[in-house]
Amino acid sequence: MPNYESPIIAPSLLSADFSCLSKSARQVGDAGAKWLHFDVMDGHFVPNLTFGPLAVEALRKHTSLFFDVHLMVSRPESLIEAFAGAGADLITVHVEACPHLHKVIHQIKACGVKAGAALNPGSPLVLVEEVLEDLDLLLIMTVNPGFPAQEFILSAEEKIRRARDRLSRHPEILLEVDGGIHTDTAARVVCAGANVLVAGSAVFGARDPGRAYVELGQITSAAFDKIR
Ligand code: DX5
Ligand code: ZN
Repeated sequence: MPNYESPIIAPSLLSADFSCLSKSARQVGDAGAKWLHFDVMDGHFVPNLTFGPLAVEALRKHTSLFFDVHLMVSRPESLIEAFAGAGADLITVHVEACPHLHKVIHQIKACGVKAGAALNPGSPLVLVEEVLEDLDLLLIMTVNPGFPAQEFILSAEEKIRRARDRLSRHPEILLEVDGGIHTDTAARVVCAGANVLVAGSAVFGARDPGRAYVELGQITSAAFDKIR
């Protein structure tokens, strides 16, 4: 019986049409989404470039969705105030980009924003051990970050289970997964213990993103009911 909240789907704008992001936000919001995931890439930590704080600020005027900002950038500490000021509700940094992780987590919180830490597929859970209780969210990457529509890394499932086990005394800390989440993989990550599922191509790559969001929500709810 899970002691944590039921799963949330966080549609990632990375797979949306960049010429009309506010329309994309509306499509999933109208379908019932509460979260919107921003994959921020700097062309350095990962080989791709996406949004800056100005894009987040512009969208903030169009929606009240919870903005889940995933910083795949080197030196994230230099961007936190800007993204918080732009309207982020939660900012996640990669442990691989943060030699001073404890300091950065508290820098995020000092901005009045929730704080997350992300682990690449090759990074062990032990890297967040000492900051775990300071986190609002732990993100387990289920692909190597950089691009949408990659294949889910199967070994990540076991890592999600270990993370959920590690969080058993902290059910309030959200366990997010990101990468390769679609109708075939959503149920298994929920059964492994994830309760925030980022979905990019599965939602915004679909002809009807609202409908794709609803379908994914049904699958995750059914999977959560099974382990309840
Ligand atoms: C890392 C990104 C992706 C993306 C999800 O590259 O964080 O994981 O948002 O994309 P899909 O859902 O298409 O794998
Ligand atoms: Zn992401």
